[in-house]
Amino acid sequence: MKRWWRGTKRYLSWRLRNPFAPYEDYYVHAVMRKVRGAGHPAIGPKSRPVRAQTELLDFLKRYGLQPGDVAVDYGCGSLRLGEALIGYLEPGKYWGVDITAEFYELGLQGMDADFVREKAPKLGVINPETLARVRADKPRFVASWHVCSKVPEARLDSYIGSIVSLLSPGSIALVHFPESAERRQLSGLAWSSPRSLIEKVARKLAPDADISFAPLIEGERDGIRQTLLVIRA
Ligand SMILES: C[S@@+](CC[C@H](N)C(=O)[O-])C[C@H]1O[C@@H](n2cnc3c(N)ncnc32)[C@H](O)[C@@H]1O
Repeated sequence: MKRWWRGTKRYLSWRLRNPFAPYEDYYVHAVMRKVRGAGHPAIGPKSRPVRAQTELLDFLKRYGLQPGDVAVDYGCGSLRLGEALIGYLEPGKYWGVDITAEFYELGLQGMDADFVREKAPKLGVINPETLARVRADKPRFVASWHVCSKVPEARLDSYIGSIVSLLSPGSIALVHFPESAERRQLSGLAWSSPRSLIEKVARKLAPDADISFAPLIEGERDGIRQTLLVIRA
């Protein structure tokens, strides 16, 4: 309760100082505070994968990824999972996008400069111009790992809509989310969602797509499953 109250106070105080800023700015502010302090588990030099560094790559391969495909890491953070994907894909075929450049710049700083030069990953802040550039490259896959849980319910349309906007016939989006029976706040910055909510948003925004769900890992912990929303355009 104390932790929840501290988080709420912090958010309200930021909101008073930034009455018109989008929620995503608060997310960046809160995460960077941690990165500069004790470190953040998913962003920056202290980040570590929850499971394997190749988890995103392994899943995409399971869905048919080839080195010559263009793949988008939507909400790439500091490339914690993106690095393995960059390594697998041909030069210039990886797109990492996020709500701030600060996160992927931290990731680039931790990578071998020759590797980055050779692989030429494409990176950009999510906005209409970047999305148009990504779309022009005709991605075959759009994957979003550990991101959906960071999106408040009121912003889910915009998040999933933006992912759907990158799809073209034959392409696939894979969106990981923690699934629970009810929408539940997991921390100051994260929520789990019922499948019905995610499905409703996806069907509204991609009415002609084939929409299904698959487990990311088997089993349930504290009433939460790790699930993939699969959208086939
Ligand atoms: C826990 S990190 C995960 C980063 C990366 N996908 C990984 O697994 O290492 C969550 C990421 O989601 C991004 N994010 C939060 N809200 C977003 C939104 N509405 N659209 C796109 N990305 C978002 C954050 O900026 C952050 O990089």
